[in-house]
Amino acid sequence: MAENTLESIVSWAKRRGFIMPGSEIYGGLGGIYDLGPYGVALKNNIKSLWWKTFVENRDDVVGMESAILMNHQVWQASGHETGFIDELVECKKCHRRFKADDIGDAKCQRGGDHKLTPPKAFNTMFKVKDTYLRPETAQGMFTDFKQILETSRQKLPFGIAQMGKCFRNEINTKDYLFRVREFEIAEIEYFVKPGEDDKFFEDWLKQWEDFVLSLGIKKENLKLYQHPKEGLSHYSKGTTDLQYNFPFGFKELAGVANRTDFDLKSHQEASGKDLNYFDQETNEKYLPFVIEPTLGVERLMLAVICDAFQQVDSRTETTEAVTEKEIVLHFNSNLAPVKVAVFPLVKKLSEDAKKIYDDLKSCWGAIEFDESGSIGRRYRRQDEIGTPFCVTFDFDSLDDKKVTVRNRDTMKQERIEISELKNYLFEKLNSWMKV
Ligand code: GAP
Repeated sequence: MAENTLESIVSWAKRRGFIMPGSEIYGGLGGIYDLGPYGVALKNNIKSLWWKTFVENRDDVVGMESAILMNHQVWQASGHETGFIDELVECKKCHRRFKADDIGDAKCQRGGDHKLTPPKAFNTMFKVKDTYLRPETAQGMFTDFKQILETSRQKLPFGIAQMGKCFRNEINTKDYLFRVREFEIAEIEYFVKPGEDDKFFEDWLKQWEDFVLSLGIKKENLKLYQHPKEGLSHYSKGTTDLQYNFPFGFKELAGVANRTDFDLKSHQEASGKDLNYFDQETNEKYLPFVIEPTLGVERLMLAVICDAFQQVDSRTETTEAVTEKEIVLHFNSNLAPVKVAVFPLVKKLSEDAKKIYDDLKSCWGAIEFDESGSIGRRYRRQDEIGTPFCVTFDFDSLDDKKVTVRNRDTMKQERIEISELKNYLFEKLNSWMKV
């Protein structure tokens, strides 16, 4: 994927109300983005599919929501206060700061006389009064492990799932949504009997990849990267990343880590509370090992957009001269922010078309009505936000009680009986999953 694709995506996302810089009227704030109406719809669709796949559709995973602010001692016991560190280098002349990993042996870009300091440890947690903003959701699932185990009456192996906002004071924010300071993580802590951890690690890696593929992401744009032992996080015995082919190269999209009993052991020692699991089958008491599949929701959303984004010279059924390139987002129907758009051919037909719109809206919610501009222009607007189907009510519809349904990807048009429209769309939208 070309680097300039990212520029086109950034400008499309702002223009079409998906993603924009946060607090932009005041000049913005580094590494902070806001989502507009279509952006939040796309993100919510990704999140609800994740929840459905890993919580609702399973018996061995339960959900939870822990608070963003946790007791300071959590971050001491978890090792984050001493171990959640990036290496920082600073230019001695212009005082710009870089993550040492990003810059390698390179110099400050501002010139040869701009020398860098030796790397120093920089904790990327945001300090607030008395504690930190959480940099991961995992810790709430460890501190509440025993209570959730008891109230949900689960037995090993079982998992706790959570998604929510996390904050990291990144030295450099980078590559649009890829490295930001405020973002959401969706992750599972899957508790297993020690000795069964390697098997479940492989299982989860496969399930994580399958989920990403189920969103329509192309397999050739994914690859696995196993972390070398010396590059592992302070809690991990082994980590494999699922990388996506972003316009700036293959980079981490998600990961699976074997956290062993590191976290439960640390919290047990620091809190003095017994976090052991009693295995009724073997009459043993032990601390479970934990397999942790994790992903960043914004990174996944960026990958979904990159994969669905297409720029073409001209494809629309229009008689108007098209000068600029056309943009089409080939989102899976379950991710598309708008499922169907309804158009009257001319404003005179609006009342009849509105009845169809109301009927579809009561069924799917995410339906748009558009009566302005030529039909070709209206198709283009919907293609740009990835709407799978457009329905046009024309003069013939008054007599034959049929409408024209146009497919975003094939641009094929079909005349469908109005009385059959809902069934037709239901079947198409449900089957249109590019797995
Ligand atoms: N609990 C494990 C954990 O937090 P991580 O690899 O540090 O693991 C999880 O983060 C996921 O969060 C990553 O796979 C990545 O997708 C996403 N992520 C991490 N830092 C990010 C950042 N600064 N901006 C956006 N997403 C980020």
